[in-house]
Amino acid sequence: MAEACRIVAEVLDGIKQLVTSGITTIELDEFAESFIKKKGARPAFKGYKGYPATVCTSLNEQVVHGIPSQVKLKEGDILSLDIGVYYKGFYGDAAITLPVGGISDEAKKLLFATEDALQIGIEKAITGNKLSDISAAIQNCVESKGFSVVRDLVGHGIGRALHEEPQVPNFGRPGQGPEIREGMTLAIEPMVNAGGWEVILLDDGWTTVTKDKSLSAHFEHTIAVTKNGNIILTKL
Ligand code: MF3
Ligand code: CO
Repeated sequence: MAEACRIVAEVLDGIKQLVTSGITTIELDEFAESFIKKKGARPAFKGYKGYPATVCTSLNEQVVHGIPSQVKLKEGDILSLDIGVYYKGFYGDAAITLPVGGISDEAKKLLFATEDALQIGIEKAITGNKLSDISAAIQNCVESKGFSVVRDLVGHGIGRALHEEPQVPNFGRPGQGPEIREGMTLAIEPMVNAGGWEVILLDDGWTTVTKDKSLSAHFEHTIAVTKNGNIILTKL
């Protein structure tokens, strides 16, 4: 599983260097697919419930599951890239949101807040805590900065399947749900909106956007809970 996750981290690192104004999200997707195949691995999302691509590329007010297209990135955009890999029986899953050139102060704050919320959530993923301690920490972090967390989509267990129990919401009261145990592997993935938390699904059946058209960011890591803390598997 660590190997699958390492490939995810490597693709994200490579794709990061390509994100500049003028490139299309299809080109980014092609890079990711060939990188993953060269490693002897398989894109986890392509074909999953009919999803057509390797990467979810979600621009600006798109929250998640944006489909790569011929639209060119432009200065001031923010782009979320979500990638899953299947390798030797196991899955890895991670996401980042990147600025395209210079972005607004509001957008910068949103990216920092979302990445910060992920980090704070991960810190709560330790034995002795309850699952919703992760959720509550993420929600508090996000709301203290004046942003909102998406309610309709959640993080998840991951391992031999892309989505396993338990669900990992990014909101809720602390001290609820199952106990966090050694050996658990979780994909923690706050989706944060600059405006309200409500989202809608576009007619393509995949792209989720903010209802109020505000910007949205998404950061995700796959982690493994150990005896003493946890390991972020999708980090280089
Ligand atoms: N990281 C997203 C998730 O955990 C990926 C969606 S997979 C897709 O659900 F194939 F459905 F796009
Ligand atoms: Co995920």
